[in-house]
Order: sequence, then C-alpha cells, then structure tokens
Amino acid sequence: MINFKKCGLEDIETLKEISIKTFVDTYGEDNTEKNMSLYIQSSLTDEALTEQLTNSDSLFYLMFDNENLVGYLKLNIEKAQSKIYDEDSVEIERIYVLDEFQHRGFGQQMLDKAIEIAKQLDKGSLWLAVWEKNNGAISFYHKNHFKQVETITFILGETPFTGLVMKKWFH
Ligand SMILES: CC(C)(COP(=O)(O)OP(=O)(O)OC[C@H]1O[C@@H](n2cnc3c(N)ncnc32)[C@H](O)[C@@H]1OP(=O)(O)O)[C@@H](O)C(=O)NCCC(=O)NCCS
Repeated sequence: MINFKKCGLEDIETLKEISIKTFVDTYGEDNTEKNMSLYIQSSLTDEALTEQLTNSDSLFYLMFDNENLVGYLKLNIEKAQSKIYDEDSVEIERIYVLDEFQHRGFGQQMLDKAIEIAKQLDKGSLWLAVWEKNNGAISFYHKNHFKQVETITFILGETPFTGLVMKKWFH
C-alpha cells in the first residue's frame, strides 16, 4: 500500500540520503564530479535542507510502498518557487523515484499527489523545469499533458544547462 509522509525536520537524514542518491543516479553520468559536488554542497547539506524544510512554502513528501521508501517529492508555492513566480501555480521542484522502483507506476502516483495538493490549495496549474536532455522525464510529463511554455538556463555547479519549463493546467 502506498502512503505519503509530509516531511518535517525529523526526516532530514532520510531526505538527505535519498536526495543525494537520486541526484547522483539521475545526473552523475552526464556531469563532472566537481559540478555534482558543488550542487550537493550547496543544496543538499543539513543546513540547506533545514532551511528548505522550515520554509512553509516548500512542501516535502516521502513516498512509501508498504515500509519501503520509493521516492520523494518537493513542491514550492508562493515566493518559494524558483525562477518563475506564479501565484496561481505550484512548482514541482523535485520528483524522484529510486532507480530500483522506476517504471512501476510510483512516479505517476507521486504526480497525482502533486495534482491533488495543488487543487486543494486552489491553484490552477502545476509547473516544472526539466533538463532538455532528460527524455524519460519529458515523456512522463507529456503523457500527463504538460505543455512546454518556455526555456530557461540553470547552472549546475559551474555549467549552464537549458531547461524546458512545462506546465499543466487543470481546466
Ligand atoms: C521521471 C520519474 C519520476 C517517473 O517515475 P516512474 O515511477 O519511473 O514512472 P511511472 O512508472 O509512474 O510511469 C508513468 C508513465 O510515464 C511514462 N514514462 C515514465 N518514465 C518514462 C521513460 N523513462 N521513458 C518514457 N516514458 C516514461 C510512461 O508512459 C509511463 O506509463 P506506462 O508505464 O503505462 O508506459 C522517474 O523515472 C524518476 O525519478 N527519474 C529520475 C529522476 C528525474 O528525472 N526526475 C525528474 C526531474 S525533472
């Protein structure tokens, strides 16, 4: 059975571990070690995660299948949104399923959870930015009727990358 745990500071160690693991598994092959560690040391430390977890406009969820941790979700609302500010929208900043649990429908259930939360918050859409070469995730979003609305540049460590901004409206 699937369940979601809304994270608090008590989850920081679990969150740090799964965040680093999924980040390295997803981007490690295509990026330099230096860029990977610059990101980890700026965004996934105890200090950085404490700041994110105590920001009431950032919502973290751990997803469990029975007792197994399968992934996590980070949503941003209001001023916690990165790059783009849309009062009527919710940003999916991170949606990660652990490698060994991918392609079994868990990502879909996590996305459905994000949609449910955005609707509960009375927002009209969800948006996200995805690396232009992350074809698997882009197919996943297309399947879920996200449309590309613009492109952005983001910096990983020292290197600029192009991200596709994709949005899904509920009406
Ligand atoms: C993207 C991600 C969240 C999808 O989760 P998942 O559990 O693997 O996906 P699901 O099994 O729920 O797939 C749902 C549908 O999305 C599509 N899909 C998912 N992954 C896909 C892939 N790699 N290639 C093509 N289509 C894909 C399929 O149509 C699938 O439906 P189907 O199984 O009926 O064919 C997951 O693969 C992941 O965590 N990837 C690494 C991290 C990442 O890239 N996150 C996104 C950053 S923006």
